Amino acid sequence: MSPFQSVSRQSSPVGEVVTLSPRLQLQHLICAHTPSEEELSPGSDVVQGLSATPKTLSPRYFYDDQGSQLFEAICELPEYYLTRTETLILQDFAEAIAHLTGPCEIVELGSGSSTKTRLLLDAYQSLGHPLRYVPIDVSAGILQSSAQALLQAYPTLQVQGLIGTYEQAIAQLAPTPLAARMICFIGSSLGNLDPETADQFFDQITAALQPGDYFLLGIDLQKPKAILETAYNDAQGVTAAFNLNMLSHLNRRFVGNFEVAQFEHWAFYNETAHQIEMHLRSRQAQSVRLEALDLTVAFEAGETVRTEISRKFDLAAMQQNLASHGLQTLHTWTDPQSWFGLVLAQR
Ligand code: AVI
Repeated sequence: MSPFQSVSRQSSPVGEVVTLSPRLQLQHLICAHTPSEEELSPGSDVVQGLSATPKTLSPRYFYDDQGSQLFEAICELPEYYLTRTETLILQDFAEAIAHLTGPCEIVELGSGSSTKTRLLLDAYQSLGHPLRYVPIDVSAGILQSSAQALLQAYPTLQVQGLIGTYEQAIAQLAPTPLAARMICFIGSSLGNLDPETADQFFDQITAALQPGDYFLLGIDLQKPKAILETAYNDAQGVTAAFNLNMLSHLNRRFVGNFEVAQFEHWAFYNETAHQIEMHLRSRQAQSVRLEALDLTVAFEAGETVRTEISRKFDLAAMQQNLASHGLQTLHTWTDPQSWFGLVLAQR
């Protein structure tokens, strides 16, 4: 029998729902909120960022297929301690998390390959709790393949995948049939948001939770500059390739003529702002054209474009910040070196 014979499609007020099996539904979210400037006019953020002084580009342009693969490779690098350390914390404490929350639906923002989620699912399974997982990702392909792998590994798991952005998904979560919900935002992706955007994001999280629901947040913690700068300047040059790949992505997407070899990767720790900054530095004076945006950009020799911030947090300050958004910390966990932190908060 073809694997597609049992597929059913239904439209709903928030987008098409595809039932791939009795345990797997995928939903393409539609834009239910007021469209952003970027949604109305794709690339307007590129025009704005490259016309500003100093120049910036949004980190979302890292993630084409090649960029997503390079990010997976970064997570395996010996210098990039973040993924490894968060995984160790989850290995040690996922059961403690499951004990604290009791049965709950697990919603994951930016689920990707869902590798770390398995540690949570194992814990809820071992306590005999029902397994219901709502992964959210912009990539339908990754969402479907990782959901299918999870269904094979967990015979009682129900998956309700949402294809869309965090903002779309958080605003459109259907009521959960379980006693509670836990929204997970792990991997320190919060660090890639500036403080103002992070505050708006916390407000959206609070609004998506019922009183008593949970928020699990994974954050990279402040530590000596040398450890941080090594993590973003790896010896194999994978992070450099990831950063430079943004230019190839922009060339393809907006009919551009960036000469990638004429730029170099630059990452450093800004100790005042507690953030790694990644930039692309122009090796010479040059001019670049992005035809689809009708944009010509002049670069001076040595001029940089900031492509990402990666903020590093203080656990106590984060708990206060969460509390100011109505999220009370129940417990925090770190690794023995206190390099990475997990916070379980409750609305
Ligand atoms: C996705 N994010 C948490 C990564 C980070 O560390 O801020 C992105 C990254 N940039 C360079 N290396 C990894």
